Amino acid sequence: MFHNKLLSLLALCAWRASASVTVRKTDKGPTGYEVDFKYVNATASRVLIGGGLQAFTDQYHTTLESRAWYDPRDYQPGDFYVSFGSPEDGYEWPYEMTNDDGDDGVWTYTTPLPSGIYSYAYLVDCDSASACGIETGQLVIDPDVPPFINVQGDQVASSFQVPYDARFQGTDDISADFDYALPAPHRYRGTVRFVNYTSPGSIHPAPDVHHFGLYLPAEYGKIEGKTYPLLYLSHGASGNGNDWENLGRMSHIMDNLIAGGHVEPTVVVMPSFYNLDSSLPRFIYGNKSNVAPLPTSDHIRENYQRYLFPWVEANVENVCAQPSCRAFAGLSWGGRLTYEMYVNATGYFDYYGMFSPATDRPTLDNETLAANPALADKGLFVAYGLYDFVFENGRELQAALSALDIPFVSRVTPFGGHYWNTWQDELWWFGVKALWKPKPFTERTGRS
Ligand SMILES: *[C@@H]1O[C@H](CO)[C@@H](O)[C@H](O)[C@H]1NC(C)=O
Ligand SMILES: *[C@@H]1O[C@H](CO)[C@@H](O)[C@H](O)[C@H]1NC(C)=O
Ligand SMILES: *[C@@H]1O[C@H](CO)[C@@H](O)[C@H](O)[C@H]1NC(C)=O
Ligand SMILES: *[C@@H]1O[C@H](CO)[C@@H](O)[C@H](O)[C@H]1NC(C)=O
Ligand SMILES: *[C@@H]1O[C@H](CO)[C@@H](O)[C@H](O)[C@H]1NC(C)=O
Repeated sequence: MFHNKLLSLLALCAWRASASVTVRKTDKGPTGYEVDFKYVNATASRVLIGGGLQAFTDQYHTTLESRAWYDPRDYQPGDFYVSFGSPEDGYEWPYEMTNDDGDDGVWTYTTPLPSGIYSYAYLVDCDSASACGIETGQLVIDPDVPPFINVQGDQVASSFQVPYDARFQGTDDISADFDYALPAPHRYRGTVRFVNYTSPGSIHPAPDVHHFGLYLPAEYGKIEGKTYPLLYLSHGASGNGNDWENLGRMSHIMDNLIAGGHVEPTVVVMPSFYNLDSSLPRFIYGNKSNVAPLPTSDHIRENYQRYLFPWVEANVENVCAQPSCRAFAGLSWGGRLTYEMYVNATGYFDYYGMFSPATDRPTLDNETLAANPALADKGLFVAYGLYDFVFENGRELQAALSALDIPFVSRVTPFGGHYWNTWQDELWWFGVKALWKPKPFTERTGRS
């Protein structure tokens, strides 16, 4: 009995040490970098890598409806990834591991990749990367690259970042340089962790306890009496408050924004809008049959106003308490929530970042504005991708603001689908061009 336990413990240790992802600089094409994946499983008969990896496409073969399906080994400068569509029949998912030795159970895969963040998980005994997930029991998270989580099950993919090499990547019209999401110099590195807060009615991670991600800039707590501006940063549909760090490396982006002098040191709270109460079925991360129905924006707003905002005010120290140093931003459904905050929590925030917002056609009109004139005096940023399925939503929102002469800063991400590379780009440019910039915004805002 004891012997068996010891053996399985040893087996577990051996196995734990044997998965890995290595990013290697090669100084040769097609991208200047290669990534080696290794995963040990002696019973598996086929292993795909999925969980967020995408095929590549280029601007000449991408529209809102279609994309190309390039293997990263065929990468050409200016290629990028988007995340929609289904390939034609007979398409072979490029990320398939091989087990050359047959019975040793060591699965490997090597590929060039260009600059950017990649999330992934191993799909064991799976024939189609889009069909396998936690609900089919075929998804294995890399044990040696654990995701950023609060409790087990809060994320279902790990991630890594590949640096930029200008000799092989990008073109004059498409910058593919995501190095702003690589670690900043040591003295600028902030911390990011999870915080549980009291939220009556919450059903996750414990009854009446809900949670948010908290980023604190490097200098936080080191300068007597200094207070910091506060950004709330929301995830989107089927996500949670771990996403921005785990899938988007927000801490590195904030560190680099601060290191570059683009934003002053800022505290960031990343809330989670599912499982706030039991009015909807329990949301289980990564379970595709569990995504709908989504909580409505006013439901989320009311809950945050009642529990989250007061809790943060009372418990996160050295954070500014005025609207002028408070911002709300979010991606997709979180962009819709940001619009809700703009319209219905206008007095609480002065800056709003709507990233790929999944908004309805805005009902903003002269009457709304007359009743709430502060709407015209906010620091607004509205961004979306050129290949983003909410392209029209973002456009309509901008048109509605323009019709009322409400100023805003815009960003249309030139490689942008509805995915993390786009949202990283949107967070970066929000920081560079809009966040905490003097109001009212004008055509000189963000030009230094
Ligand atoms: C190995 O693969 C089997 C399927 O053949 C799967 O059930 C199991 O979870 C995998 N084990 C590990 C340690 O990843
Ligand atoms: C996924 O969600 C469905 C629908 O809510 C549920 O029936 C099922 O048990 C869930 N599966 C897992 C693995 O969580
Ligand atoms: C939050 O609460 C959950 C459930 O009790 C617990 O598992 C988790 O470790 C807590 N997280 C933190 C950061 O305290
Ligand atoms: C704002 O609040 C009003 C009144 O509760 C509600 O009808 C509306 O849907 C909310 N959101 C927006 C974006 O107008
Ligand atoms: C708002 O009112 C102005 C002046 O009455 C009018 O010119 C404009 O078309 C109106 N705009 C909208 C969006 O209703």
